[in-house]
Amino acid sequence: MYSRINSRPTIKTPDMSQPALNTTASFQALHAHYAAIKETSLRELFAASPSRFEQFSLKAAGLFLDYAKNNVTAETMGHLFALARERQLEPRRQAMFAGAKINTTENRAVLHTALRAPQQPALELDGQQVSADVHAVLERVQTFSAAVRSGTWLGYTGKPISDIVNIGIGGSDLGPKMVCQALRPYQRADLKLHFVSNVDGDDLDAVLQQVDPQTTLFVIASKTFTTAETMMNAHSARNWFLQNAAGAQESDLRKHFVAVSTNVEGVTAFGIDAANMFPFWDWVGGRYSVWSSIGLPVALAVGFEQFSEFLAGAHAMDRHFQDAPLEQNMPVILALLGVWYRNFFDYRSVSIAPYHQDLGNFPSYLQQLEMESNGKRVSLDGRTLEAESCPIIWGNVGTNGQHAYFQLLHQGTDITPVDFIATLHASHQLPGHQAALLANCFAQSEALMRGKHADEVQAEMQAKGMPADQVTALLPHRIFPGNRPSNTILMEALTPASLGALIALYEHKVFVQGVIWDVNSFDQWGVELGKVLASNILGELTAAPAPQGNAHDSSTSGLIAMARRALS
Ligand code: F6P
Repeated sequence: MYSRINSRPTIKTPDMSQPALNTTASFQALHAHYAAIKETSLRELFAASPSRFEQFSLKAAGLFLDYAKNNVTAETMGHLFALARERQLEPRRQAMFAGAKINTTENRAVLHTALRAPQQPALELDGQQVSADVHAVLERVQTFSAAVRSGTWLGYTGKPISDIVNIGIGGSDLGPKMVCQALRPYQRADLKLHFVSNVDGDDLDAVLQQVDPQTTLFVIASKTFTTAETMMNAHSARNWFLQNAAGAQESDLRKHFVAVSTNVEGVTAFGIDAANMFPFWDWVGGRYSVWSSIGLPVALAVGFEQFSEFLAGAHAMDRHFQDAPLEQNMPVILALLGVWYRNFFDYRSVSIAPYHQDLGNFPSYLQQLEMESNGKRVSLDGRTLEAESCPIIWGNVGTNGQHAYFQLLHQGTDITPVDFIATLHASHQLPGHQAALLANCFAQSEALMRGKHADEVQAEMQAKGMPADQVTALLPHRIFPGNRPSNTILMEALTPASLGALIALYEHKVFVQGVIWDVNSFDQWGVELGKVLASNILGELTAAPAPQGNAHDSSTSGLIAMARRALS
């Protein structure tokens, strides 16, 4: 249990059992409200209130959220805040920050917020001096990243490091890869970052073709240090080094391989010195780990000072989430809007549209964060959910998405709420581009909201002198129904601090939705079955002679037989 070192209050895990969501009073009130409001269009809502933008927007931790283009009124929001309160959001939030073991299926605390908190006031958890340990590891990250960046960390032939290859998957890849890309302008040209995650050898091979063993540093990143894909890539990288580093001995591996993990035995068994291991702790979930030493590639890429700014930006959002009343709380509002669409409008997916090229990996980062956290079908106490949980998260950078799948967003049969994310200032100096980018971003949300109705389309075609029969034929194709909701998140610029705040915003959104849906947002049992079956099938693909018997269905057996023939 956590305590403030001076006062040592004991924080108990709150009672985690909740009634089924659809049986709660506030959910039922929302249902009645939904029936009353569902026919009111966004156009009507804007026409009814000239101050809608001011009413439905807020600032926090350097971010601005415009949520005016959502199918909500003040009454809707009131019902949603009541739902959050009925689901015990405030004590749950307090419990997470305090270090209660809210990851009940793994009996773990959830303390990624401690990774970006100042050293004081200090946290203690089950006898662990959390703050002291976090800051001790940060100091090691600082020293090591400075040594590599300054060229004092040398490879086995005495040359400084030119290439860093992070080998990890899931949370041990997506976070640092996304952040390094987002902070591209803060990187140096003479230190290249590479990320290898896929067990498909093409991933590692493509990187190994580009790098020199004398000047390459491998970071083996795995919380468990047992993940099959990472272990295979790590062993192949080790073999490649020993085969290609002319004159290198096994003892030279220590200059070229470091590890980030919670598993010191696994790391040392692999052959990496514990002195070259950057630890973190079981209370950091993989998809919440970019703030820990899993962020080492970020510190290597942009320097420790910028990494500290990144942590500080997230901490500012933590403070906002923890302290702001629900009604003015950005992650809470974002989460409740998602619940509104998922559970009442039955919208099944959410599209993420960053209008910043350097946020290109943000949608796939959010896929893990949201879908691995809340893609659950049972409640915390194991009952089958009676209401829907996490939607599908997908997306790509604007403006590219506009010329690919935005057709469906505007005129498809499914309605998909969109999160537009943009910066007011660009990272580059090219004239004209930023205005064009922002114009597209704002135009898309306006088009989704307003649409273009039959009378408008007809008048437009008639004004162009189009013959009447052609107007009639084309009219249905050219109508945009509109009334399609979106959020717009704006930042001044993409900096380490604003990026930190943005990620923390979504982390807390996920937490709030997990509380409403009553799921454990911090375990991921759903990935286990495939891992076990893959390991069995791997044995069957390589075993000699071929295993007999009918262990599989005819489809899987047939595929295995084909692969055995190809691999033999
Ligand atoms: O299989 C899913 C998962 O456990 C993710 O939750 C995690 O981020 C990823 O694998 C990598 O795990 P590790 O860091 O232990 O290699």
